[in-house]
Amino acid sequence: MVRILRNAAVACAVAGAVNAATPEQWRSRSIFQVLTDRFARSDGSTTASCNTADGNYCGGSWRGIINQLDYIQNMGFTAIWISPVTYQIPERTVFGYAYHGYWQENLYMLNDHFGTADDLKALSQALHDRGMYLMVDVVPNHNAWNGSADAVDYSRYYPFNDKKYFHDYCPISNYSDQTMVENCWLGDSNVELPDLRTEDQAVRDEYNNWIKELVSNYSIDGLRLDTVKHVGKDFWSSFNQAAGVFCTGEVLAGNPDYVCDYQNYLDSLLNYPAYYPFMGFLNSTQGNTVSLLRAVEQLKTECKDVSVLGTFTENHDLPRFASQTQDLSLAKNALALTILWDGIPIVYAGQEQHYSGYADPANREATWLAKYSRRSPLYELIASVNQVRNQALSIDANYATYNVWAIYNDTNTAALRKGFDGKQIISVFTNKGNSSASWTLSLGNTGWSAGTTVYEILTCNQVTVSGDGTLAVPMEEGVPRIYFSMQAASGSGICGSMADGTTTGAAAPSSTKESVGAAGRKAKKTRKQVAAVAGAIAAAAGAI
Ligand SMILES: *[C@@H]1O[C@H](CO)[C@@H](O)[C@H](O)[C@H]1NC(C)=O
Ligand SMILES: *[C@@H]1O[C@H](CO)[C@@H](O)[C@H](O)[C@H]1NC(C)=O
Ligand SMILES: *[C@@H]1O[C@H](CO)[C@@H](O)[C@H](O)[C@H]1NC(C)=O
Ligand SMILES: *[C@@H]1O[C@H](CO)[C@@H](O)[C@H](O)[C@H]1NC(C)=O
Ligand SMILES: *[C@@H]1O[C@H](CO)[C@@H](O)[C@H](O)[C@H]1NC(C)=O
Ligand SMILES: *[C@@H]1O[C@H](CO)[C@@H](O)[C@H](O)[C@H]1NC(C)=O
Repeated sequence: MVRILRNAAVACAVAGAVNAATPEQWRSRSIFQVLTDRFARSDGSTTASCNTADGNYCGGSWRGIINQLDYIQNMGFTAIWISPVTYQIPERTVFGYAYHGYWQENLYMLNDHFGTADDLKALSQALHDRGMYLMVDVVPNHNAWNGSADAVDYSRYYPFNDKKYFHDYCPISNYSDQTMVENCWLGDSNVELPDLRTEDQAVRDEYNNWIKELVSNYSIDGLRLDTVKHVGKDFWSSFNQAAGVFCTGEVLAGNPDYVCDYQNYLDSLLNYPAYYPFMGFLNSTQGNTVSLLRAVEQLKTECKDVSVLGTFTENHDLPRFASQTQDLSLAKNALALTILWDGIPIVYAGQEQHYSGYADPANREATWLAKYSRRSPLYELIASVNQVRNQALSIDANYATYNVWAIYNDTNTAALRKGFDGKQIISVFTNKGNSSASWTLSLGNTGWSAGTTVYEILTCNQVTVSGDGTLAVPMEEGVPRIYFSMQAASGSGICGSMADGTTTGAAAPSSTKESVGAAGRKAKKTRKQVAAVAGAIAAAAGAI
């Protein structure tokens, strides 16, 4: 029996009828990104080889994803982002096959390596049955060609089957020249990416009709837009509108000024301006909190709406975090920061298994090779952190739009608060790493009054805010700490907290009993503990 996420159910009142999901609906989601070819095979194999350097199709499919939705949902995710679904160039290139989906040839045919139209519809339905959303990656900027620019056979493309739909060839030699970035071609002489004239009305009309149909045919809830900065901004306004669903775009740049402007044309962006400061902070030898905290402030003022930006610390284009450092404590900080920052968290498949591939193509490891283990430390961490975020969202309609702010910082440590009094999550991040010495951080300004009992949700330790209003935070082995009041956790299953059981003695909901993830195991361990402090909770209720 599938573990039902109570919070997810609340967030999505009409499971099964999900359609035309808006930014407001997406901001309370948590996204798991899969490269369709690399996540799960239809046959369920966990031994099929997949050597990333070969650039082959490894056999992942939409049916395969359907069969592994428990694995995803048990980590607390409420949406998935899959690879582009369109038909790709079929040739083997110098870089291998188009298993990633970014080498489009025909918009109106599906990539049959991933399955049939019915399979894709079934995936959409299976997600909606669980109250989850489907996000599909789309690539309007370019098609692809196995070979040099002068040899492109445009008649192979559909519907853009003529040279007139494309810019004349030119390479992008100067990334500071925005006109060149938009009108010249990505790719190289091995695989060129013929660049669509997305400024032409005829091209726009085709794209707008196509995306409307695609969204409707497959009941898609949201789109991830590829290479957004390589297309003029006006294109995106009409495309986003035609799609009729939430769109988040990839503007691969770190400068908040440059990136945030795109939010005037699109619902949302992938938060690259936060990614770079995250990496800067999470560096145990050189990192500090300065750029991290500056990013918090800058993004709040420069982006139109930070609450719908996509937060990530890995994706298929970036080096895996574990390729930079094997330190598990830093990896935990990276994930907790991703999930508890402003915006919509996005975790890239394999991050939960501490995969360590460096850049493309090494960072596209098959998830099945880790056998979908639900016992790995990062899998368990993600489940716990998504759970507390989902609970905060379900008890407070304003959690998602309450902006993160720093209540404490020193060179290596930052404590962030998100959420209104009583319902806030206080998280403490450090870049000191696994081998750092233990110390105690005395945290004031938490918003909790003296006597409030809070959980540290990764250990399920209970702490009471002391008489002078400070919270004693034991920092050990460089792990993050995440605090949530026992009152706010009530009924969520967090650390074993039961629905009403804490005050009335009623049994735990069956979803908690049957849960199989990390939170579930912790719940069993701490149930007795919880009963013992029922009185303290009643007291805390008065304080909040
Ligand atoms: C694709 O390009 C590669 C390298 O240029 C070439 O060896 C191969 O024959 C091409 N494949 C097809 C089917 O044209
Ligand atoms: C690149 O483009 C920028 C902006 O147009 C321009 O100022 C700069 O001179 C260009 N650099 C080169 C090497 O052409
Ligand atoms: C949507 O479905 C209709 C009816 O089957 C089909 O004609 C159309 O090509 C489909 N469009 C897309 C983008 O899949
Ligand atoms: C920390 O920064 C140094 C210097 O830029 C770099 O070599 C190292 O890989 C970084 N470490 C991590 C964990 O990112
Ligand atoms: C970080 O700490 C410094 C020194 O204690 C303080 O002046 C600054 O305001 C803090 N920054 C934030 C964002 O809290
Ligand atoms: C830190 O590293 C030690 C030695 O490798 C390991 O035993 C311990 O579990 C690690 N702690 C964390 C929190 O990862």
